[in-house]
Amino acid sequence: MKKFTCAGDIGPWREAVKEALEIKRDRFAHTHLGRNRTLLMLFFNSSLRTRLSTQKAAMNLGMNVMVLDVNQGAWKLETERGVVMDGDKAEHLLEAIPVMGCYCDIIGVRSFAGLKDRESDYQEKVIEQFIRYSGRPVFSMEAATRHPLQSFADLITIEEHKTKERPKVVLTWAPHPKALPQAVANSFCEWIGLTDYDFVITHPHGYELSPQFTGNARVVYDQDAALDGADFVYAKNWSAYAGDNYGKVLSTDRSWTIDSRKMALTDNAMFMHCLPVRRNMIVTDEVIESPQSIVIAEAANREISAQTVLKRMLESL
Ligand code: CP
Repeated sequence: MKKFTCAGDIGPWREAVKEALEIKRDRFAHTHLGRNRTLLMLFFNSSLRTRLSTQKAAMNLGMNVMVLDVNQGAWKLETERGVVMDGDKAEHLLEAIPVMGCYCDIIGVRSFAGLKDRESDYQEKVIEQFIRYSGRPVFSMEAATRHPLQSFADLITIEEHKTKERPKVVLTWAPHPKALPQAVANSFCEWIGLTDYDFVITHPHGYELSPQFTGNARVVYDQDAALDGADFVYAKNWSAYAGDNYGKVLSTDRSWTIDSRKMALTDNAMFMHCLPVRRNMIVTDEVIESPQSIVIAEAANREISAQTVLKRMLESL
């Protein structure tokens, strides 16, 4: 595997989940693969889970790991070509990328959407430049439009917890005080779209996601109706995608918060969220602390999704 930025890069999803579960059963079975290999993890944005789980995954494979927080201690990077660099950005990504490629074997990049210019965000300029100019396999640790390591972990988690061959999975928008990218929601749609699950998306009017990601999924604007009989409830906030409202918060309506009354509409559903989560905005204390909440198991599987991707990349070197 030379790149991992979207669901299509994983190949047949059942094989990928099978491989991931084998890794989970014996996560030190492939320590020889990473010997004398170095992973560079590059963060343009903050992280807790991605940083720790990916580093742990690389260590399980015997790799050396370097982590660079671009905004703390590195030169400020210009990402646009053609800019007269007379401001505060001292280095261009077009030099920085091949230089970083000299020091490592695999690169992971986290670079969120700016939420100002939809076209620019959806071109995925930053990670695409890493793929083009680093000379190394590159994987996304959340880019502008997708978070594939999260979605792969989500799929592994659903497969582990499902009690029906074809569960009903509901992605529900939930309120948040700040504008967040669509990446987790887009990616969840893309990965669940690989399966034959009964997949429903619910959100207030104005929060429609790109059809590129939602595909044939059913969109139900009545959240209670969407939750009826659900086996998994995946809550997430995202800012508006459509038109002039791109990147805006259109609603903080707390009637969309997932609470016990809403969970009672489901078929004893499991509650999922990628974390970090704003309690009593996205989900009530009661629900996230309930036995139905599998958010910690979901986060634990981030190590497994990352290790599966890194293993495949090491095998391709
Ligand atoms: N879910 C997730 O990617 O968490 P972090 O932002 O903490 O890495």
